[in-house]
Order: sequence, then C-alpha cells, then structure tokens
Amino acid sequence: MSSISDTLIAWYSPNRRDLPWRKTKDPYSIWVSEVILQQTRVAQGLDYYHRFLQAFPTVQSLAAAPLDDVMRVWQGLGYYTRARNMHAAARQVASEHGGKFPNTYEGLRSLRGVGDYTASAIGAFAFNIPRPAVDGNVYRIWSRIFGVFTPIDTPDGQKELYQIALEQLDKKRPNIFNQAIMDFGGTLCTPKNPLCGRCPVSDICYAFRNNAVPLLPAKCKKVKVTNRYFAYLMVRHRDDTFIRRREGKDIWNSLYEFPLIETRGSTSLRALKKTQEWKEMFGSVAPEVLHVSPCLKHVLSHQHLYVQFYILEVSAAPYFLSTNFLRVKTNSMGEYPTPRLIDGYMAAEPVEKYFLSD
Ligand code: ADE
Repeated sequence: MSSISDTLIAWYSPNRRDLPWRKTKDPYSIWVSEVILQQTRVAQGLDYYHRFLQAFPTVQSLAAAPLDDVMRVWQGLGYYTRARNMHAAARQVASEHGGKFPNTYEGLRSLRGVGDYTASAIGAFAFNIPRPAVDGNVYRIWSRIFGVFTPIDTPDGQKELYQIALEQLDKKRPNIFNQAIMDFGGTLCTPKNPLCGRCPVSDICYAFRNNAVPLLPAKCKKVKVTNRYFAYLMVRHRDDTFIRRREGKDIWNSLYEFPLIETRGSTSLRALKKTQEWKEMFGSVAPEVLHVSPCLKHVLSHQHLYVQFYILEVSAAPYFLSTNFLRVKTNSMGEYPTPRLIDGYMAAEPVEKYFLSD
C-alpha cells in the first residue's frame, strides 16, 4: 500500500503550480518567497517576489540597502517586522557568513526572523534537508486527515501535529514532499470550502469520512479585536508637510506617517482642538482647516482603525512640528515608506489640490 506522502506526491506531479521559486535552488530567492508567502497568498505574492528580487537581486544587495528602501518594496504587505528582520538577517549573512547563505538547518535557524518553518522550508527546497515545514496550512491538513481535535493554537496541538508531519515526511524527497503539501493545502484542503471531491486522500481522511471537515482544525481562542481612533493631521506650510517615522512596539514600526492624535473614541474637530496633543503641536499658531475626510475604517488582523484625515494650513511653522518631525515637500511623500492606509488615502483623494502653491 502506498503511503499518504506517496499519494500526495503523485497528485502533485500533474497538478503542481508553476511558481518561480520552484525553478531555483538559490536559498536567498527561496527565503524571499517564503517570507512573502507568510504574509500573503500566492497570487499577490508573485508580484512582490519579482519586485523584491528586482530591487535586491542578491543577499549582499539587500544587506547594503538602506532600510527605508526595503520598507518601500514591502509596503502594503503588512507586518513590517518581517521586512526589518529580513534586512537584519541579510546583514548577518554578509557579516557572519561571508555573504553566503548558510546551508544547514541550524545555520538557517540562526538568522534573524527565521523560525522553524522558514528554516525547514529553505532547507528542504534549496538543500533537500529532511525536515517538514509546518505552518497553519500543515496543521489543518494533518488534523483533518488524522482527526486531531487538540486545538492547533495550543502547544499540545502543535506538538502532536508536528509529530505527525515528521512521521509522514518523505525523508528521501523532502523538497517535493513539502511543495506537494503546500499545494495540497493551498488548492484542495483549503480553510473554507475544501474540494474533498477531488482529494486524492479523501478515502482515508478522518474528517471527510466522519463529516467533520468544518470542525477541523480545532481552535480554542477567539481573536480579540481592538478598536482604535486615529486623527491624522496633514499640516501644510508653504509646499511642505510634516511626517515622522513610527518607532516602538506598536503597528507600523519604521513606516512614516503624518502627525497623529489617537483618541479613545470617535471624535470631532472641536474635541481634537482641546486635546493636549493639539495644543502641544500648534501652540499659539491657529491652523486653517482646509479639508476633513470622512471616517475611514482600516482593518488589520487584530485591530480595527477608524481614521480621519485633517488637511490643515499654517502660516508659520509651529515649533513642535519643526523640531519633532521631518519637514518634506508634499509631493515627495512617495519616497517614504508609509502604511497602506495613508498611501491609499493620498492616491484616492485629490489631496494635492490642498497643497498646491497658489
Ligand atoms: N506557501 C508557502 N510557501 C509556499 C511555496 N513554496 N509554494 C506555494 N505556496 C507556499
């Protein structure tokens, strides 16, 4: 009797997706593809993959690039820590590995931001190292096939499913095995509406045989969503505006934004003017209000942002903005990596009309 991995590999051969990172053994390109695919689906990932490699064709070029350039290419993918980690890892490869990507699991795992999944995936695809690359897709597949109800968002569930993945791994063909699993999870054994009618292992799949597909994988935690309320102040002084780079543990670290006032709930211009931040920002300089956007909702994985943009004009540059912010030409905003929310607003609204010189 053939093993499950034989069956999945036999299914994969004629059904495999033709993807550029499957045509290379270059660990750098494979790493780039894997990090991008942790962030987005294959269809959107393809475009980012090509753009990233065009901008930074080698690990040396990534190491030598300014972080802002990396963030600009990453812009729109979200979870910007990944991009910062990639930049740091590239510098590690340059300084600690003589510019050559490590070729062992341990060497890969030692790179910044490279966890067990990524090290296993690069290891399998570039060097045929026999380890299963286990992510959420893989938990889903094995929990359905073997009827594992231990929640996958617990250490116990993850340990149990990792063990199954290890037992099922085709140790002679880890490369093709891991690719087959990824395509199987991406095209047939999908989170919603899996195509069980076309599944090559449905006859032995616990979930299919027991009508339990919608119940698996089991999860115990509900994601808690936080609502946040942002007022962005686009302050015009002559042809300039003021921006700054976000720092710290909050969202969007290393991206640029306009002066921000965050409030506890939705707010009004009157209320904003009474905040400490407004008073600190403008002091005695009363800005003229040129435009107020409607309230926009921006959904992140654990946060819902309710955002309004205020376009303001000042006749003298307020001291606080001049000393704490970067003063830039309004039409050069595109040179700075910004959250998609800001980029999208600037593209959708005819913002420039408020900033054009008279
Ligand atoms: N998802 C994550 N890694 C992948 C890969 N190498 N191919 C297709 N989908 C993926």
